Amino acid sequence: MTKVLVVYCSMSGNTRAAAEVVAAGAKGAGARVTPKEGSQARPQDPLECDAAAPGSHDAFSYMGGALKDFLDRAFYPTHAGSSDGQALRPRSSRTAVREKRARASNPSLRSSS
Ligand SMILES: Cc1cc2nc3c(=O)[nH]c(=O)nc-3n(C[C@H](O)[C@H](O)[C@H](O)COP(=O)(O)O)c2cc1C
Repeated sequence: MTKVLVVYCSMSGNTRAAAEVVAAGAKGAGARVTPKEGSQARPQDPLECDAAAPGSHDAFSYMGGALKDFLDRAFYPTHAGSSDGQALRPRSSRTAVREKRARASNPSLRSSS
């Protein structure tokens, strides 16, 4: 089943409402959906989904802090091939895709946290 990560930042509820609509649409299309507020999302979440739908309110013409914080925290783990957030080894996107396929075919390689 396709896994979709819906991650959002919302101060007054508008983006949360939009994220819920996106999540409902993905669920309706048969996906397994995990809606998460940015500060609750884990760095390895992007490695454990097939698609991601990030959303934010506009804050001074930029994304909100919780989404930015999530993207910052996710950068090294997703680019280092680690699902535990520890390794900091930069790697190519080709290697990242190869490693993600290996994880998909071998559940024991996935993080349990
Ligand atoms: C501190 C702050 C800065 C904002 N900056 C912008 C902005 O630069 N451009 C804009 O169109 N809206 C801006 N807004 C308006 C919000 O993006 C808008 O109210 C949005 O619907 C809030 O979404 P939320 O309910 O998910 O927090 C700002 C709001 C706040 C509180």
